[in-house]
Order: sequence, then structure tokens, then C-alpha cells
Amino acid sequence: MKKYNWAILGCGKIAKKFALELKGLPNANLYAAASRNLDNATSFASEFGFKKAYGSYNEMVKDPAIDVVYIATPHSHHLEHTLLCLNHKKAVLCEKAFAINSKEVLQMVKASKENNTFLMEAFWVRFRPKFKKVLDLIKIEDLGKLKMIKSDFNFLGDYNPENRLFNIDLGASSLLDIGIYPVFTSLVLLGKPTQIKAIPQFSPTGSEESIAVFLSYENGSTAVLNSSFKSDYKNDVELSFEKGFIKYDRFSKDPILLQTTTKNQQITFDAGPNLGYQYEAVHVMECLDKNLIESPILPLSTSIELISILDAIRKEAGIVFPNHD
Ligand SMILES: NC(=O)c1ccc[n+]([C@@H]2O[C@H](COP(=O)([O-])OP(=O)(O)OC[C@H]3O[C@@H](n4cnc5c(N)ncnc54)[C@H](OP(=O)(O)O)[C@@H]3O)[C@@H](O)[C@H]2O)c1
Repeated sequence: MKKYNWAILGCGKIAKKFALELKGLPNANLYAAASRNLDNATSFASEFGFKKAYGSYNEMVKDPAIDVVYIATPHSHHLEHTLLCLNHKKAVLCEKAFAINSKEVLQMVKASKENNTFLMEAFWVRFRPKFKKVLDLIKIEDLGKLKMIKSDFNFLGDYNPENRLFNIDLGASSLLDIGIYPVFTSLVLLGKPTQIKAIPQFSPTGSEESIAVFLSYENGSTAVLNSSFKSDYKNDVELSFEKGFIKYDRFSKDPILLQTTTKNQQITFDAGPNLGYQYEAVHVMECLDKNLIESPILPLSTSIELISILDAIRKEAGIVFPNHD
């Protein structure tokens, strides 16, 4: 079994959750942690057992022993940090939102091809057992066409104008941060919408803090999606088919509800250990084992489609990032 030397770029909140789960994988070697601040990198490295700590991202990418970098900086910086890693021939798993807009994502994809180096968006949910079970149910059950998706992702974020949830310079937007999950679900299950309506609410910094999105599709299906940093935690998905419906909470390990005219079942599944960040890392290493530069399960074309829908929603809602758009 080949072991891969992983590096973390940006030692913030999600990097901690990811590192904890990476630690349990037999073919992942926790090699380096890089922060803008050496003390932060050193304490992160010692907390999770990384061998090396770097006080600058530029220094870290020059280390020839690193195979793959997990980028966990705010989305405003994903383009810069992805290019830095790819141009040093480091495979990249980059957090969602992949970047601020399509223009940036296309530059990242181009750099992956030019450097012949692996790149994938860290859309961890795609690899979790719960989502796989939902896809299986849709395939095996006689539900007819999917006609409507209702989905949301809300949580109450502490207002702080400097925080990346409200600071436009750091890509603040509930849509890019959490609304991206309902948009991803609708992309995987219904494809690209033909019509988009969106109603945003803005925070005192001018960042979008809540949004209601309405999508319609060529085949007559619709989706109603919401995200917000201003209400209590909610993360529901409701899929209404011609002959029944599937309902679940996106992240919990609770059963999936399947209801048809003849069935009303709580579908259980093997949720696995932890929160489920390990599955995307396992998949990245499977791709590297096969010398792939993109994932067959979450190809770059999906990330390109996803960001193009997010661009269109932002345009409709008037959400702008002055340093990027
Ligand atoms: N997959 C998921 O479940 C999930 C969950 C939460 C967030 N995310 C995504 O992960 C990314 C990071 O989110 P987070 O919640 O971990 O953010 P965070 O706690 O603020 O951490 C971001 C880290 O980025 C680094 N950074 C580099 N340049 C920065 C700058 N100019 N300002 C602030 N930080 C900067 C910092 O690390 P150093 O100081 O160490 O350099 C900081 O700790 C976002 O794109 C977010 O959408 C994904």
C-alpha cells in the first residue's frame, strides 16, 4: 500500500476536523501543517501529530516530500493557494466553495491540466454513506420522476464584521458557504436549471447572510432552496417524486425516510465512524493510486457546473465581491 504525505494549508476550524479523520487512514501520513504563523502551525502539528510545521504556505509547497495538500483557507483565497500548490506539482483537495466565481475555477482547472496534477473540490458529502444510500434508493425504488426538491442549510452565526462569514473580502456569503449544499444536491439530481430566481438579505457589512433560491428545469421540475447564517440549525432535504418522497437530514446519522403509497420506511445505513470527512480523503488517495488527475466520482466538470449555477444565482440576487467580480 502506497502511503501519501499530506499537508494542511491553513490551520483553521475545518482543517482541525479534517486532520482528526485523516489521522485514522492507514495510507495517509500526517506530514506537514502550514499556517501564516509558525506558532499556529506548530501547535496544530503537535495536536494532530504532523511531522513538520511551516510558518508560510510558500515555504511548505517547496518541500519535495509532500504528495497532497488539503486547502482549508477562506474561499476568497482558494484560487491563489490552489495555483501555488499545483504549480509545485502537489495534488490538491480544496475546500468548497471551490473559488469565488467561474473565472477562478477555470484557472484552477487549467493549472491542474497544465501541471498534470490532481485537483478535486472537497465536496465531502458526495462521498458520505448517507448520500450514496439516497442515490441507491432513487435507483432501486419505483418512485417515478423527481418533481421537486426542498432543501435548506441554516445556522446561527455570531455576527462579527471581521469574521469570514460576514467579511466580503473573505468571500462571505451564506450561498457560497452553506447554500452550496442544497445547490449541489439539485445539480446532482436534476442537472442545470433553466430558470433562476433569488431573494437575498444582506448583513450590515453588505455581505449576503440569507437567501431564498427558486430553480426550474426543462423537464418541469422545480427546487426551492434556502440558506442562512441568521436562524437556528436546519439541514433538511425533501425529494418529491411522482410516486413518493424521500426525506433526510443531510449530515446526521439518522435514518432516511422513504414514503410511497405502499411503504413508509425508516431506511438505515452504515454511517461509518466520525463525521465523514475521511471518505473524500480515501477517494483522493484511490485516484492518486491510479495516477488520475481528476476524480471520476466528482469530476472537475461538476465543480465547473456548480460554480456556474452559483454565479447565476449571485447575478440574480446582486451579490458581488468587488475584489473578484
Ligand atoms: N467541508 C465542510 O464541512 C466545511 C466546513 C466549514 C468550512 N468549510 C470551508 O473551509 C474553508 C475554511 O473555513 P473555516 O471555517 O475553517 O475558516 P477559518 O476557521 O476562518 O480558517 C481559515 C484559515 O485560513 C487561513 N487563512 C489564510 N488567509 C487568510 C485570511 N486572509 N484571513 C483569514 N484566514 C486566512 C487561516 O489559517 P492560518 O492562520 O493557519 O494560515 C485560517 O485559520 C472555507 O472555504 C469554508 O467554506 C468547509
